[in-house]
Amino acid sequence: MLYALLKTLHLLSVIVWVGGMVFVLFFLRPALAVLEVPKRLALMQAVLTRFFRAVMVAAGLSVLSGFWMMHRVAGQGAQIGVSSPMPVEWLVMAALGTLMVLIFGYVRVRCYPRLVAAVVAQDWPAGATALASIRRWVMLNLILGVVTVAITQAGVVG
Ligand code: HEM
Repeated sequence: MLYALLKTLHLLSVIVWVGGMVFVLFFLRPALAVLEVPKRLALMQAVLTRFFRAVMVAAGLSVLSGFWMMHRVAGQGAQIGVSSPMPVEWLVMAALGTLMVLIFGYVRVRCYPRLVAAVVAQDWPAGATALASIRRWVMLNLILGVVTVAITQAGVVG
């Protein structure tokens, strides 16, 4: 029962995180081309402020629930005296998931404050540069997320 709840929480967190990245990159960003650069950057900053808050929660929940599930499975094996190895796809998922969190942390701590500072200072070239770097990192994270889901669902590894 607890395991099923953890897995549901895990999947919902991943859906919010990966789905949000798809929405921002492929739906919101192209549609903003109709706005002037200052309005576009200010709107993206307002959207990313809210999205990054949600990602902080979603990323935290997905990592915690993921490692918790691994810990439970390892603990149950130990209780009955069986030390079965973790499925390879779980280990790959843990590695890629941790990498995704580190990338998100970098974007949140290094790139996003530059965007905020540029919007406050109305320095639009600096804002565009900051937003371009955020877009590249988010695209990389989206690719890692899709690869992770493919590995768990299509059994690409193992
Ligand atoms: C440190 C991070 C992570 C850890 C430790 C972790 C670990 C786990 C574990 C133990 C399961 C349960 C598998 C089962 O009971 O069959 C699971 C399920 C799953 N995880 Fe993760 N995960 C992490 C991050 C991610 C990320 C970032 C994604 C996708 C972007 C992801 C996608 C999935 C999916 C789709 C499932 C469901 C697999 C299925 O049951 O078919 N996980 N994860």
